[in-house]
Amino acid sequence: MRDVLGLEYLGSVPLVEPQPGRRLPTEPMTGEVYRKNAVAGFATEHPSSAFAETLRSARIAADVHIDRPHKVIGIVSVLPGEGKSTIAMNFAQALAGSASVLLIDADLRNPGATRALGQHAEEGLLEVLLEGRAPASAMLTDPDTGLRFLPAVVRRRIPHSSEILASAAMARLLAQVAGEFDYVVLDLPPLGPVVDARAIAPRVDGFVMVVEWGGTSRKAVKDTLNAEAQIAGRCLGVILNKVDAGKMKLYEGYGSADYYASRYSHYYHENAS
Ligand SMILES: Nc1ncnc2c1ncn2[C@@H]1O[C@H](COP(=O)(O)OP(=O)(O)O)[C@@H](O)[C@H]1O
Ligand SMILES: [Mg+2]
Repeated sequence: MRDVLGLEYLGSVPLVEPQPGRRLPTEPMTGEVYRKNAVAGFATEHPSSAFAETLRSARIAADVHIDRPHKVIGIVSVLPGEGKSTIAMNFAQALAGSASVLLIDADLRNPGATRALGQHAEEGLLEVLLEGRAPASAMLTDPDTGLRFLPAVVRRRIPHSSEILASAAMARLLAQVAGEFDYVVLDLPPLGPVVDARAIAPRVDGFVMVVEWGGTSRKAVKDTLNAEAQIAGRCLGVILNKVDAGKMKLYEGYGSADYYASRYSHYYHENAS
């Protein structure tokens, strides 16, 4: 389905409630992914949830629209906090169930995936790009899914983060890992007002746009995509995040995609200005 934005609607992700009483291993293992919060692994733990269903749609969109065996997929949003890292982590883990997958934390201003999965990491993307470390040696592995994760260990603020993403070293890294993995998922910085993600657009086969339900207006999404032709042209579709599930039961498959689809276009019409 295509709505007024001209983008495919991939599905929605409900607002996930904190999971009380969930057991975590007491300490992260060196070289392994360690999930600090339940949202980071929700779709894997609840494969029949709306969250998991939406990620399956995103995979289908990627497989249909990207005509090559190795796919680089960027997760973007207009604003910070809409759920890029959450979607990127869950998407990468879902894909890792049946493919070889690398998740890269490419949000150097706000490395959310690293906070959630790799807080114990001592090196990552920056060491690979700036110090020539071998990518594989800086990756963590998820013992459950086999997912590899290249964190971003940011010890101080990086003034020119878009230049790092645009660098020849980043291009080389993506070319290399794209040949080694079926899917490379990039957790990218937000698109506005500073569009770091533009720098990387030529290296990305498809973008998934995360939109926070009730948070970002249709006009903001539209204006941003109008200004970013390269990203818009490769946009696989939109995921609506943090949808208040209301009457729907959170851990069961939801009834109807059309329900969301109608709410989706309705919502955007209402907020058009
Ligand atoms: N569907 C969701 N349900 C509950 N919390 C969510 C959901 N999506 C994101 N969050 C929370 O919202 C915050 C921002 O999400 P995050 O993925 O870090 O956004 P971004 O990477 O776009 O800045 C985090 O605390 C995250 O745990
Ligand atoms: Mg993030």
